[in-house]
Amino acid sequence: MNKKSRSSVEMNDKSFRPAVANKLEDTENIKMLILAFPIWWYVAPTIINTFLEQYDWNDKIIIPVATSGSSGMGNTNTELESSCPGAILKDGKRFDANVSEKEIKAWFTKEKQLYRW
Ligand SMILES: Cc1cc2nc3c(=O)[nH]c(=O)nc-3n(C[C@H](O)[C@H](O)[C@H](O)COP(=O)(O)O)c2cc1C
Repeated sequence: MNKKSRSSVEMNDKSFRPAVANKLEDTENIKMLILAFPIWWYVAPTIINTFLEQYDWNDKIIIPVATSGSSGMGNTNTELESSCPGAILKDGKRFDANVSEKEIKAWFTKEKQLYRW
């Protein structure tokens, strides 16, 4: 809620791209990406855009997974689309911020079956 906090300053400027510390070594063989993040002001933190923009996601499936206090996925995908051109961006799944590991595992097992992973 502090307007001068780092997250507030960063999220006020949608073009801001916080740096990601590590790089993925090989994205060629990734067919499906589970992209997990907390919802910040109704969307993904812009560091998620930084991450996506570092690689080519064309024809790859991306499933956003978020935790939040109460909001749904909101405009999340609209804000992510331009950072992963050509990707098949799914609706994704929102969990409560205090979701249990068991709940996540149950969802993940279902997703794996759905996509025959
Ligand atoms: C800067 C910031 C903005 C947030 N904005 C939202 C929001 O718009 N809607 C919501 O339901 N929760 C919001 N939250 C709560 C986070 O989604 C929640 O803390 C997170 O999913 C839990 O992960 P964490 O333990 O890494 O914070 C926000 C949290 C922070 C720090």
